Amino acid sequence: MSTDPLLQSYTLKHLTLKNRLMITSHEPAYPEDGMPKDRYRAYHVERARAGVALTMTAGSASVARDSPPVFNNILAWKDEVVGWMKQLTDECHDHGCAVMIQLTHLGRRTRWDKADWLPVVSPSHEREPSHKAFPKKAEDWDIARIIQDYADAAERMQAAGLDGIELQAYGHLMDQFWSPLTNDLEGPYGGSLENRLRFTFDALRAIRDRCGDEFIVGVRYTADEDMPGGLTKADGMEISQRLKDSGMVDFLNVIKGHIDTDAALTDVIPVQGMPSAPHLDFAGEVRAATKFPTFHAAKIQDVATARHAIASGKLDMVGMTRAHMADPHIVAKIMRGEEDRIRPCVGANYCLDRIYQGGMALCLHNPATGRELEQPHVVAKADTPRRIVIVGAGPAGLEAARVAAERGHTVIVHEAANDPGGQIRLTAQTERRAEMMQLIQWRFAECEQMGVTFRFNSFADAETVRSEDPDVVIIATGGLPHTEILAEGDALVISAWDILSGDAQPGENVLIYDDAGDYAALQAAEKIAATGAKVEIMTRDRSFAPEVMAMSLTPSMRELQKRDVTFTVTWKLDAVRRDGNKLLATIGSDYGGVTRERLVDQVVVNHGTRPLDDVYFDLRPAATNLGEVDYEDLVAGHPQTVNRNPEGSYQLFRIGDAVAARNTHAAIYDALRLVKVL
Ligand SMILES: Cc1cc2nc3c(=O)[nH]c(=O)nc-3n(C[C@H](O)[C@H](O)[C@H](O)COP(=O)(O)O)c2cc1C
Ligand code: SF4
Repeated sequence: MSTDPLLQSYTLKHLTLKNRLMITSHEPAYPEDGMPKDRYRAYHVERARAGVALTMTAGSASVARDSPPVFNNILAWKDEVVGWMKQLTDECHDHGCAVMIQLTHLGRRTRWDKADWLPVVSPSHEREPSHKAFPKKAEDWDIARIIQDYADAAERMQAAGLDGIELQAYGHLMDQFWSPLTNDLEGPYGGSLENRLRFTFDALRAIRDRCGDEFIVGVRYTADEDMPGGLTKADGMEISQRLKDSGMVDFLNVIKGHIDTDAALTDVIPVQGMPSAPHLDFAGEVRAATKFPTFHAAKIQDVATARHAIASGKLDMVGMTRAHMADPHIVAKIMRGEEDRIRPCVGANYCLDRIYQGGMALCLHNPATGRELEQPHVVAKADTPRRIVIVGAGPAGLEAARVAAERGHTVIVHEAANDPGGQIRLTAQTERRAEMMQLIQWRFAECEQMGVTFRFNSFADAETVRSEDPDVVIIATGGLPHTEILAEGDALVISAWDILSGDAQPGENVLIYDDAGDYAALQAAEKIAATGAKVEIMTRDRSFAPEVMAMSLTPSMRELQKRDVTFTVTWKLDAVRRDGNKLLATIGSDYGGVTRERLVDQVVVNHGTRPLDDVYFDLRPAATNLGEVDYEDLVAGHPQTVNRNPEGSYQLFRIGDAVAARNTHAAIYDALRLVKVL
């Protein structure tokens, strides 16, 4: 019997959870037609098979038509959900994993121009800054019908065989009733705290009437809105106690904060560079005060912190949600004594940021997540071991090396620098983004463990590569910044990388022209502004930094606004000329008809990279495939069989930014899907 606190079972009512690790509710936006179909099921089953005790499926599964999905949520108000949830639940149960689902009405946290174009409803007309819909103020018949909707949805989940449900009450309709900031009702559902809680207790009563006392029902709620005029910690403690005392609730899942703006949401669900487990102590206080089953998740990324959360008695069940997106096999690795091999969540928040842009959740450094039907988390051994030479030890090259080694091939990696990392080393120059290096360190450690040979300080040319006698060559040399985009004055500008690497010293009055919209411009701005310089970020787009996305932008904005960095959208840099010891920038617009000038002492251009591809083109003539990739086979997961040059002696591929400037996920995905079948 293990003595690991995390591996002890936990009894919740009649349900035995086999350990203390859970995946908290999160909507990865995988539903098809609002239903959790094959992709959705495969995602949860992968994690169930690896030993997680409880998966709280969905995120904000909608109980009513007038709660249309904000990020492709499950439509729990449709009867057909029962069959799909039953399949998912049965398969997770086969692996001993309990399954619950989060049900909600989003209230004002959605939009009226979705699905059936019904008005958004809330206990006041106050709009939520994030979703921007002005709500209808709820009438008595709205309240009555939504209470029944909760009961109907709960009954569907019970019919599907789920172990329980949780109701969402942070930023959604339920706590819009609770908070004085969003409840202007009078009478039974507005005014005193007791009245503001009435909607919740009515919904709970309706659920109990329908599903009985045995069905497990919890609430995931904010126990401190942490904002002026909102629910205080004292209110939260009172609410916690009342939830317990109602006898209708079986567990508390504690949240601290509010989510009505991107920045506030980021404090509830912290990203890279923000403190680890910031609300754990608070959740522990709720548990201590109520002596009631308490669950919690918020940037508990590593097993040691999770273990501490349980061992110290702060929590009964600890959520490692994004951590399970990065590595579905956390529990299996703990049980095998391979904790140090867990692929760490680096807090890049690509997963969550994408769903708010209408995409599905993808993990920046695990391309198999959400693609369980097509991409393996563990690749199979190859029938024939081959000799694979990789040039470049950035994310793409290291992923190629890792997967090739897992396939059982002999792998040799040449890297011009004396350390692995490529562009990520530059990214990690900003202290706040240092966690990105774990993406490299984990891959490098895996490669070393599996016997990959690294040749550092090796600027491999075609001759060097051929001398290794490879069966397969993979070029992952990345790219270099491209700044030659001006009508005049290319030689007068520097790149964002020049600033980040320290090759150029920051100026005092700096114009940053960002035509890529990624992190590099923001990080350069932060570094320059930290010296006290005046910084303006300009883009021709309608918004800035679109590739960084909502929550990931929060820590950057906090730094940049503190230092008075300004943002100028819809203007574009046309030319730069010398003017004495200054630079005169000519500014135009895609809308035409206007020009402006700026006198500054430094112009930084961020315009992506161009491939470093010389060695690839030098190697092409002697390759069997002449570098060609069969995209049909690549996408279908079949081996590459192109042979245009029977005289050739190796297959040749290039991946990542050595092909075209993209992002880290694209680079790693290129590597996984190519190499898993080599
Ligand atoms: C893609 C994604 C979607 C999420 N959607 C929801 C949701 O609908 N409801 C909810 O209560 N929490 C949602 N969450 C928050 C998680 O349940 C969890 O609280 C958060 O990720 C912090 O825990 P972690 O640091 O262990 O990931 C979501 C998280 C992610 C990554
Ligand atoms: S995208 Fe980033 S935050 Fe999300 S799971 Fe992956 S590593 Fe973690």
